[in-house]
Amino acid sequence: MMMQTRTSPTFSMSGGAAGRCQEERSRHGKRTINPSTRNREKILLSSHEFQLFRDLIKQRAGIALSEDKIELLKARLTKILRRKGLRNFREYHKVVSMDASGAELSDLLDAITTNLTSFFRESKHLDFLTRKAMPDIMIRRRRDTDRTIRIWSAGCSSGEEPYSIAMTLLDTGFFSSVWRLSISATDLCTDVLAKAEKGIYEHDRISTVPPPLLKKFFKKGINRASGFVRVKREIRQHVCFSRLNLMEAFPWREPIDVIFCRNVMIYFDKSTQERLINQFYRHLRDGGYLFIGHSESLTGIRHNYRYVCPTVYQK
Ligand SMILES: C[S@@+](CC[C@H](N)C(=O)[O-])C[C@H]1O[C@@H](n2cnc3c(N)ncnc32)[C@H](O)[C@@H]1O
Repeated sequence: MMMQTRTSPTFSMSGGAAGRCQEERSRHGKRTINPSTRNREKILLSSHEFQLFRDLIKQRAGIALSEDKIELLKARLTKILRRKGLRNFREYHKVVSMDASGAELSDLLDAITTNLTSFFRESKHLDFLTRKAMPDIMIRRRRDTDRTIRIWSAGCSSGEEPYSIAMTLLDTGFFSSVWRLSISATDLCTDVLAKAEKGIYEHDRISTVPPPLLKKFFKKGINRASGFVRVKREIRQHVCFSRLNLMEAFPWREPIDVIFCRNVMIYFDKSTQERLINQFYRHLRDGGYLFIGHSESLTGIRHNYRYVCPTVYQK
């Protein structure tokens, strides 16, 4: 059970009252710490403890934290320590390492990953998808009895990427009769997946959605939901969200037509990127496409993809 850290109401008082709260003396004159005060004490992260967490995060999530991330890690993890009522980082490291369920690791990774995303981010990829990739895939698969086009958004964050792909493709008419669209969207972080699954966004998140698609595929919230929009069911039904750590084996049995793995590999070192890129390759259908983020590249990585144009590769 998680312990919630609450600041005692007297804490916000000024002067003597606040001082009295911070440190109390027992009848025997021994110093005792008010529990809420103990939670506010500075928790130190030694360089050895930082190294323990770096190794754990690298091993379990592939995320390579550089030396200069010590303060960032400390700030983010201190909040968890306080919430759980733990006294130091060593204790917390033990809790995460020994938890076989993976829930503790998930909590830790939720705190350190950057989930920045937006609707229609790097929209040139979506133009390429409709103009080139999709017609090409459909021609290659014209004699195929399997009529499902499978797209994987790997590292989908809160869902803006897979929903943008679905809206773009369903708007084109490619999927009006013969073909079925199936998008798998995965992420390591459970918080963002919960948000993605609901498909509900604050109004200021949709400024990048082209107006015709906004009108067609979003529902405006009213009353208590005003200020929010929801992606319509006709789009949501094509996207299936699940938790998947890219450092673990992929569960897919069918070959995938298109993989989007954008702005995820930046967290990984070269050897992890190479392993991942080659694992994607094995799961792609012949002729299938891989899209990576605009600040990413496969330079210096051994692979068998055909270079199509910057950040787009084909098997
Ligand atoms: C910056 S977001 C990118 C979201 C989206 N692809 C985009 O380009 O807008 C990176 C996402 O990668 C996820 N991520 C990081 N390491 C991961 C791993 N080992 N397995 C799965 N997802 C991971 C993070 O949780 C985060 O949501």
